[in-house]
Amino acid sequence: MRHREIALTLLVLMFISTSETCTSRPRITAVEGEPFYLKYCFSSSEPKNETATIKWYKSSGSHGPKELSSSSSPRITLQGYVLEFWPVESDDSGSYSFQMGNASYEWKLSVIRRSKHSCFTEKQVISKTVEVKKSLQVACEHSYYQKLAHRTSLYKNCEQIENNKNPFLQKNAEFKDRGYYTCVFFLHHNGKLFNVTKTFNITIVGDRSNVIPVLLGPKLNHVKVELGKDVRLNCSALLNEKDVVYWNFWKENETDPNVHEEGETRIRTSEGKSYASRILRIENINEKNLNFSYNCTVASEGGIDTRTFILLKKEDMVDIPGHVFTRGMIIAVLISVIVVCVAIVGVIYRVDLALFYRHFMGRDETLTDGKTYDAFVSYLKGCQPENREEHTFAVETLPRVLEKHFGYKLCIFERDVVPGGAVVDEIHSLIEKSRRLIIVLSKSYMSNEVRYELESGLHKALVERKIKIILIELTPVSDFTLLPQSLSLLKSHRVLRWKPEESLSYNSRFWKNLLYLMPAKTVKPCGDELEVLPALSQS
Ligand SMILES: *[C@@H]1O[C@H](CO)[C@@H](O)[C@H](O)[C@H]1NC(C)=O
Ligand SMILES: *[C@@H]1O[C@H](CO)[C@@H](O)[C@H](O)[C@H]1NC(C)=O
Ligand SMILES: *[C@@H]1O[C@H](CO)[C@@H](O)[C@H](O)[C@H]1NC(C)=O
Ligand SMILES: *[C@@H]1O[C@H](CO)[C@@H](O)[C@H](O)[C@H]1NC(C)=O
Ligand SMILES: *[C@@H]1O[C@H](CO)[C@@H](O)[C@H](O)[C@H]1NC(C)=O
Ligand SMILES: *[C@@H]1O[C@H](CO)[C@@H](O)[C@H](O)[C@H]1NC(C)=O
Ligand SMILES: *[C@@H]1O[C@H](CO)[C@@H](O)[C@H](O)[C@H]1NC(C)=O
Ligand SMILES: *[C@@H]1O[C@H](CO)[C@@H](O)[C@H](O)[C@H]1NC(C)=O
Repeated sequence: MRHREIALTLLVLMFISTSETCTSRPRITAVEGEPFYLKYCFSSSEPKNETATIKWYKSSGSHGPKELSSSSSPRITLQGYVLEFWPVESDDSGSYSFQMGNASYEWKLSVIRRSKHSCFTEKQVISKTVEVKKSLQVACEHSYYQKLAHRTSLYKNCEQIENNKNPFLQKNAEFKDRGYYTCVFFLHHNGKLFNVTKTFNITIVGDRSNVIPVLLGPKLNHVKVELGKDVRLNCSALLNEKDVVYWNFWKENETDPNVHEEGETRIRTSEGKSYASRILRIENINEKNLNFSYNCTVASEGGIDTRTFILLKKEDMVDIPGHVFTRGMIIAVLISVIVVCVAIVGVIYRVDLALFYRHFMGRDETLTDGKTYDAFVSYLKGCQPENREEHTFAVETLPRVLEKHFGYKLCIFERDVVPGGAVVDEIHSLIEKSRRLIIVLSKSYMSNEVRYELESGLHKALVERKIKIILIELTPVSDFTLLPQSLSLLKSHRVLRWKPEESLSYNSRFWKNLLYLMPAKTVKPCGDELEVLPALSQS
């Protein structure tokens, strides 16, 4: 047993020593002027043939492999598995191969220039990263030349900091420790002094592994709850791998049976930290659960952090609602009812409101447009018995109300135009001078003359948008097909229906609507007349 252990230890040591000092990398860089060596890595699985001869070859550039011997160069020594350079120079660059029996190995060596201005060569540095506050060690050890070195110096950024047999630096890393640490091994060979350098590029980094654990969210959390319901308190933390998160929910050595701590869930981040969350479930909340501090704690080497959760009864939704809520609802309903009523009244009394507004504001849109008449009245002329009604309405009723009572100026062809002259041109220019075209419709309206008025007016209204048309249906017109089709494009509120029995009063809807459609005008002429039209009351 013991023997086997010793044998094993020896084997391991042997393996380590060979693997440490032999040169296994196939591409090597060396610095000119320094001692250098190549050592074949003897594999322990290979059967060792002591009698086999060892051969070293060099090939460079166009030259083929050339066997090396001790006489090839005074700087080269051949020692079995090792080829040594005292020192290596730039013309030593090339391929080197080792051959022993049928085992062989090849390296590519490139010799770089020594830095003129620095104690080390930048291409030959070994990078090391050390965490701040962790141990920083720089040991000047050389697996091959250590034994030969009689003195070793340690430089930091090319300033000597130690000079003895085995310089060794150990301290707690600080950020100012970053820099280039160069070990220079001085050795004698054949009466000459040589030096070998080994440089570490040391970088100090911040503490990577340990975060100060923190619980997420505010220190004190008030959670509104309803009695009888469940609540889940979520405690989550950013922490280190080994830190723990837990809930403190014990009440004087005993726990509430309705309080349960759930398992932890962890998510690892790429930087070796974790997000952990742990839920505290409180079922069927009762009075005892209120006003108690449920504390969640994260504990680490660096310390602890705690968050407190307190359950509060959600009062706003249980007690006050009784009156405040209903009162609010009633107010809201009332307001909406009022809004709807106002809207409806507004629609119904739109005309009255508009007239009131006109009156109130003293609006007058007739002042600046340069027109003479407020309306041109188009009706069926002539005194045939069947047209009497229209004639009376257009020549008597309309002027009586609109002119005498409301102060408008109408243009009634029969009344206002002196006979003679070109009728068509006359009508055209009169319509042009009017703000509205009132068409008194009846069954027998369609005569050639009025048709012209109608079409001329319609053209202005619909195409030129110069005049607005007001249609008054004196008797119900069933057959509109005779009318120009464009008339059907008129908005329906521009068609007024004359109802002899209801439209007598000045305050009746008919006159109000007509006023609404007439241009706004402030002039109010002659004194008050009777509320009922005498002319109409007889008819
Ligand atoms: C090491 O040797 C080189 C030449 O081989 C010399 O230039 C250099 O100064 C030496 N370094 C030290 C620290 O003595
Ligand atoms: C050892 O090497 C010699 C010479 O190269 C050869 O003759 C002999 O057979 C080898 N022995 C073994 C065991 O390989
Ligand atoms: C060397 O080659 C011979 C035959 O060419 C073979 O028998 C022998 O095992 C080889 N030795 C090694 C160490 O590979
Ligand atoms: C030394 O390390 C630092 C930081 O990692 C890097 O910026 C710098 O280039 C390295 N120097 C050399 C010569 O490799
Ligand atoms: C708890 O909160 C964390 C962070 O806010 C979240 O990632 C996690 O999913 C939550 N857990 C549950 C069960 O809601
Ligand atoms: C809680 O436990 C401690 C020891 O475990 C004991 O001394 C203390 O009296 C207990 N308190 C109650 C309220 O049970
Ligand atoms: C709970 O806390 C509130 C305010 O912090 C306090 O008024 C109340 O008396 C407390 N109730 C209990 C049972 O401790
Ligand atoms: C929770 O923490 C608060 C203050 O940090 C403390 O007063 C309370 O006793 C703690 N509750 C528990 C159950 O530990």
